Amino acid sequence: MSAKGPATEQLRAGQPLLVETFAEWREAARDLLVHGVPPELVTWSAPQVGGDLFTSAPSTVQPVHDLPDLPLDPKPPPHIPRSFMDMLQSAACCRVPDRWAFLYRVIWRWQQGEHDVQSPADEDGARLHGMVKAVRREEHDMHAYIRFRERPEEAGPPRFVAWYEPQHDVLPQVAQHFVSRMGKVSWMIATPEASVLWDGHTLHNTGPLVRNADDLEDTGEALWLTYYRSVFNPARLNAGIMQQHIPSHRWKNLPEGKIVTQMVSDAAMGARKTGQFQAVGQRKGTTIPIAAEDAQPERQQPSKLDECRRCELWEFATQAVPGAGPKKARIMFVGEQPGDQEDLAGQPFVGPAGKLLDQVCEAAGVDRSTIYVTNAVKHFKWEPRGKRRLHKTPAQREIEACHYWLEKELAHVKPDVIVALGATALKSVLRTANVTLKASLGKPMQVDGRWVVTTYHPSYVLRVPSEEAKREAFSTMAAGLKLAHELLERPLGIPEPE
Ligand code: URA
Repeated sequence: MSAKGPATEQLRAGQPLLVETFAEWREAARDLLVHGVPPELVTWSAPQVGGDLFTSAPSTVQPVHDLPDLPLDPKPPPHIPRSFMDMLQSAACCRVPDRWAFLYRVIWRWQQGEHDVQSPADEDGARLHGMVKAVRREEHDMHAYIRFRERPEEAGPPRFVAWYEPQHDVLPQVAQHFVSRMGKVSWMIATPEASVLWDGHTLHNTGPLVRNADDLEDTGEALWLTYYRSVFNPARLNAGIMQQHIPSHRWKNLPEGKIVTQMVSDAAMGARKTGQFQAVGQRKGTTIPIAAEDAQPERQQPSKLDECRRCELWEFATQAVPGAGPKKARIMFVGEQPGDQEDLAGQPFVGPAGKLLDQVCEAAGVDRSTIYVTNAVKHFKWEPRGKRRLHKTPAQREIEACHYWLEKELAHVKPDVIVALGATALKSVLRTANVTLKASLGKPMQVDGRWVVTTYHPSYVLRVPSEEAKREAFSTMAAGLKLAHELLERPLGIPEPE
């Protein structure tokens, strides 16, 4: 029972049915449902829009004299499924003035057997789903756009502070998110309605704070702005998409918000100038022929793999993944491209395909630690599928662009035998798209003064659906690796029989 007494008694006494939290609403709703009070007889006090659950203004309600007779033996309210309750709890964070009345109507209808009220096809259900969506979106935005600023150590805790102006009451759940991610370091999130302070052990609710912009500056921010300026690419600017992804009300609390307007207008100015140059270029005049290659600006080749911009893949990968293994290995394995785990770890073949490769090496009697292992393409190419990053086969132009790095590795390591794991590797090693895995499988070739052996990619073996085919693919791979080992002792020069 709430400190204000049961909801039915409050209604009878003409007291406002003040509800501040979801737990209080649930308690009140339970009491009302048990006594069969229909929604039209209940006046809920509306929280201020823009205020929060803790600052709702009391409002007066008309005394309710015509409550139905209370049953002597009130019935327990029906069991509400957990998932539905979760929905109601989420919707309760949505700042709409009639949230408590609306939620009571929904749960009342549910109790009356109108289970369609949960469905987006129902009018109330659609609104409920919309409120849940708005709240989830706000939680997501707050995770994404909150910026913690570091405070000087001598100022004492909290070490990091963040100011945010949420559109809905999502601070408690967002705070839990940061509790689980920021370890023991102390931080505070301040909002106009409420604030939370994490001292490294316990989360404290503190009152609303007024933002003092000067308190929120730090040296990390200057560094961040410098970085942001340096990665801002006016050629790729699409102001519409930018607005769509980060609505304008978010920008004012993002550090980069201060410089974005200027950068966007500089970019627009640049585009205008380019347009003028084009118009000038189209005017009639004398044509002076220039060889195409002389008209190209000199482009420096990247000296470090991590700086590589030879194709677009760098932009979506966490990092470039170089080859690994002994610098003078006699055998080099070439895979396709790093996978999800390799992209995060920065090392080739450390995920499931790598584990399988270990097993095949063992079966073939090849010591993997003596092998240099690399990939034809050094950045992870993927596409989103829900929360997962799904591997996408690299295009020929990406294989060709990345061949630059494979050549460097070959020049350094000078292996006697290359094992191409799968079709992409084979295309890269032979520098042509006109090869098939099937035609080359298990047939040693002599290329540029070394042996090349082709076998399956370990991911293929992992993917084969039937156990029997899997066993077969595994032993084909093992035979390929054994062959590579044998070729170490076979002299080059004598062509292989067709
Ligand atoms: N697949 C590859 O081709 N290479 C890796 O490094 C991992 C998976």
